[in-house]
Amino acid sequence: SRTIRLAAIPGDGIGPEVVAEALKVLEAALPADTSLEVTQFRLGAGRFLETGDVLPDDELERIKEQDVILLGAVGGVPGDPRLAGANIERGLLLRLRFELDHYVNLRPTVLHPGVVSPLAAPGNVDFVVVREGTEGPYVGNGGAIRTGSPAEIATEVSINTAYGVERVVRYAFAKAAERRGRLTLVHKTNVLTFAGSLWKRAVDRVAAENPTVSVDYLHVDAATIFLVTDPARFDVIVTDNLFGDILTDLAGAISGGIGLAASGNINPDGTFPSMFEPVHGSAPDIAGQQKADPTAAILSAALLAEHLGLGDAAARITAAVTADLEARSTEAAPRRTSETGDAIAALLRPPTPVHD
Ligand code: NAD
Ligand code: IPM
Ligand code: MN
Repeated sequence: SRTIRLAAIPGDGIGPEVVAEALKVLEAALPADTSLEVTQFRLGAGRFLETGDVLPDDELERIKEQDVILLGAVGGVPGDPRLAGANIERGLLLRLRFELDHYVNLRPTVLHPGVVSPLAAPGNVDFVVVREGTEGPYVGNGGAIRTGSPAEIATEVSINTAYGVERVVRYAFAKAAERRGRLTLVHKTNVLTFAGSLWKRAVDRVAAENPTVSVDYLHVDAATIFLVTDPARFDVIVTDNLFGDILTDLAGAISGGIGLAASGNINPDGTFPSMFEPVHGSAPDIAGQQKADPTAAILSAALLAEHLGLGDAAARITAAVTADLEARSTEAAPRRTSETGDAIAALLRPPTPVHD
């Protein structure tokens, strides 16, 4: 038998509502010999407003001792002056991604049967964005002088290391090799020539070792065109932290909405726990009303199960979500958050028996 130590960081807004459903489904999907030991970490804008804490070091250390992390969403109402000095996103979410070396931010996009896309003829949408997670303009390498004056200068310098780029590119090639064998590098090499060249050379180098993977390249602006006009062309996209952030909200939108988009912040080396979370934020506009769609969190739990080697549980969750999305498409009334969690849990097929 196996016990999985899971750190739950429900966070703010709709975070706790969607995490409750993801844990409900995950518990129900685990094999009989596997149990979940959940430790709750109350972190986020709410905690900060109460105590002034963002991510205390001792809590970070306790999180590092867990096998895996499930996060809802963190952050308050954009523009709330009480959060101006804090930056929960950087101090909590990005700090976790950086300290736990989540260099792969894996964001799959699937247009499930029965789900309405805003695109008239989307085709078979099934791709994954491998977004770099620890570098780029996200590292906070910048500053400002003469702040507030008309002569203010602000910089936000993107960091791209040969080491950091090569490792995420390698992961993307491996992913492509186990899927349809197509990798697209997305960057902006025509303008961001230094970082672009580094990315391009890393891809060329790793391509030479992966003859079964076909490689192409798109500038990020053109990539947004094709994501709308021909998303079925994509298999694996590899890109930097900021481009990946933007492309995956777009990917969510074309595949039925941000309420369905799952992600994993992965440390493939297994040195630190990986962290799974919906792509969406805390949605203060609908928080506390049981209006949020928990599907993105539930699909994130499937990615979490897959990461832990629980492939059958992951497949059962995904199949139940697919079935539920079809069932939903014929319903008139909007669902409560917990109703969707219950429906998906009820649709889990029995586990595949393991023989030895
Ligand atoms: P958001 O994703 O929270 O919301 C954007 C829109 O999508 C809103 O209209 C919201 O109601 C809707 N939406 C989001 N998730 C939904 C769901 N599951 N079901 C139904 N509708 C959903 O983005 P935002 O408004 O830009 O950000 C709100 C806060 O969340 C900010 O503080 C931001 O920094 C933070 N944020 C956190 C994360 C994270 O924790 N990973 C990600 C993105 C944004
Ligand atoms: C996401 C979010 C985060 C990001 C923010 C909240 C720091 O938008 O997970 O996509 O930009 O990575
Ligand atoms: Mn984002």
